[in-house]
Amino acid sequence: MLNQDSSWQNVSGWYDQLVGQTGHHFHSQVIFPYLKTHWSVVAGESVLDLACGQGVLAKFLGSAVSYIGVDIARNLIEAAQKSDQNLLHKYITADVTQNLEVRLKTAKAQLKIDKFDHAACILALQNLAHPSECLKNIGPQLKSGGTAILVLNHPCFRIPRQSGWDTNPATKLVYRWINRYLSFLEIPIKAHPGQRNSPVTWSYHFALQDLFSWLREAGLVVTDLAELVSDKESLGKAAKAENRSRAEIPLFMVIQAKKL
Ligand SMILES: C[S@@+](CC[C@H](N)C(=O)[O-])C[C@H]1O[C@@H](n2cnc3c(N)ncnc32)[C@H](O)[C@@H]1O
Repeated sequence: MLNQDSSWQNVSGWYDQLVGQTGHHFHSQVIFPYLKTHWSVVAGESVLDLACGQGVLAKFLGSAVSYIGVDIARNLIEAAQKSDQNLLHKYITADVTQNLEVRLKTAKAQLKIDKFDHAACILALQNLAHPSECLKNIGPQLKSGGTAILVLNHPCFRIPRQSGWDTNPATKLVYRWINRYLSFLEIPIKAHPGQRNSPVTWSYHFALQDLFSWLREAGLVVTDLAELVSDKESLGKAAKAENRSRAEIPLFMVIQAKKL
């Protein structure tokens, strides 16, 4: 039985502060620089952001793009509204795994959007108990030929609690271990790992074959896939091995798909 409360309402204050106006470290140093050069969104176009959090993508996209962000966490939507007065940007509290047509109606009419040019789900598909239902919302909202962009924790290498780094004592080689991959997993994650009573968020792991079949069922055809590595650098004794591992094992996967 899956835990259905995937909302980040209980960590909203912490997450809003962590992300701020320009994103947390990996938004601003890895993900957004990639999107800037590989995802073409131009002034006058429209973007639907699914599980938008406190709306950091709207700030990245800039003021000339029509944008609707949807998230289930009311406090994050309120934080988004507070920090973004752009009349072309709207925020809605709703569950992105339920049919969104009615929930989007007013905001779309205000922005004169019939169908969106683009849909995005940034670091959030793996926070949904039913990710396939979110993908099913994309097709009906996109223009034909419209693009969907998904940024994920790399599903092959970053499986919370089921993957990690270790060193082979015989060869001294740093290696990545993966314990589970094919099964759908629901994994609790402490927001503040050092704290005994830390609030928990839920992560959902799925294999690439599941994601690709959900995309196919949602009428989306994959047009591009990228694997992004961390920009961080180790110093000291183990730096060479750690930096090499970091450069070899990607942190994120970016998938672009088109509505036929
Ligand atoms: C890691 S945060 C990412 C937020 C944002 N995309 C970003 O890049 O900062 C995951 C988000 O998924 C949202 N979420 C989880 N389940 C949801 C659901 N069923 N419907 C809408 N949003 C959901 C959470 O509330 C949280 O804001």
